[in-house]
Amino acid sequence: MDHFALKDGVMHAEDVPLPRIADEVGTPVYVYSRATLERHARVFREALDAVPDKLIAFAVKANPNLAVLKVLQKEGYGADCVSVGEMRRALAAGIAPEKIVFSGVGKTAAELVAALEAGIGQFNIESEEEGLELAEIAAGMGLTAQCALRINPDVDAGTHDKISTGKADNKFGVPIDQAGQIFGKLASHDSVNLRGVAVHIGSQLAETAPLERAFEKLGALVKALRGAGHTITHVDLGGGLGVPYRKGEVLPAPADYGAMVARVTKDWGVALIFEPGRVIAGNAGVLLTRVVRVKRGLNHPFVIVDAAMNDLARPALYGAYHHFEAVEPTGAEMTANIVGPICETGDTFAMGRECDALTSGELAVFRTAGAYGATMASSYNSRGFVAEVLVDGDKFAVVADRIDAGSIMDAERVPDWLA
Ligand code: LLP
Repeated sequence: MDHFALKDGVMHAEDVPLPRIADEVGTPVYVYSRATLERHARVFREALDAVPDKLIAFAVKANPNLAVLKVLQKEGYGADCVSVGEMRRALAAGIAPEKIVFSGVGKTAAELVAALEAGIGQFNIESEEEGLELAEIAAGMGLTAQCALRINPDVDAGTHDKISTGKADNKFGVPIDQAGQIFGKLASHDSVNLRGVAVHIGSQLAETAPLERAFEKLGALVKALRGAGHTITHVDLGGGLGVPYRKGEVLPAPADYGAMVARVTKDWGVALIFEPGRVIAGNAGVLLTRVVRVKRGLNHPFVIVDAAMNDLARPALYGAYHHFEAVEPTGAEMTANIVGPICETGDTFAMGRECDALTSGELAVFRTAGAYGATMASSYNSRGFVAEVLVDGDKFAVVADRIDAGSIMDAERVPDWLA
């Protein structure tokens, strides 16, 4: 459930009419709903009520906006970070260092140092090589790094290839059949407290079965590691729960996921860590855009909007579907190609889409844009970076300024020898 709905024929975010935001902030603009973020945070937490000892660490990559992180910090969430940039954001939002998990295959030495200095809660080590480097750095600093070893369980998550992470040939984690041996090697270093294992098999999962398979493999590994004399106190189950992008689409509810987790992990005797991203932020945001013009097309008209693939990359990158609707629908419909202004055919949000009838100057939204939206923006075609707004009841605030093309150009220079 989200808080974007028509009131008196005009789409609102909570109690704020979207045309007001468009007038005051301009378009395109991402609009987030605080009530929706909080609701999703609560629903996910309550779904895991049966898990006694847990940390829910929001996957910052899904939406790193500081105000969004602040909302989740107030909900008691930690942060799953994949760069020092994300870690700094989490800390700036007031998330305690011990609630921060650091994942990612390419953590640099400088990042490992910065995260050790910050005293983060857990490093999810993705390779033997990384573990050895971390052990050496931590020893040099006279510190002990709290760590889990990320396992590649070789499970097909059944999602888009580009966001699948748990198959044997993906770059993430260590192969499950080598995990015992690598764990043993790394655990022998005093400067790392290798206290558990981690897994994340992919994103936008449409069923819980692949997760269950991965978790069962992990449970067997925990047993084997304990059998080999290791102490296992933490298991990180990653993120991945999908959300509905299409009207009427049914995905596993957080409660289904929670019940499965409780069943599979009931005898593990560990603290569990969760890293949800999309399920918290996805439906808490829309991308508000204005129709530039409608152009005749061969089969269907082209609705050219002022948002483009640089603002919302998912359709161009993954062929992703984002529901598109008018802010002030008249009831009339059309079949249209919905495109942005960027000079490549990939800048297409939808072809032959049945949608609300729209004409030049009217406002529309792409739904489910709160996760992997603004954060994946670029300035391609010198379009600048899109603004972000957070709504709370009847008020709103700009939580990320629009960075115009001029400011980006200001950071560039022509060297004297070229002038
Ligand atoms: N934990 C780790 C280690 C991850 O790599 C990810 C996502 C998550 C947690 C959060 O997954 P979620 O709960 O959001 O599914 N840009 C793509 C999604 C990439 C996901 C990358 N990793 C998209 O727009 O669909």
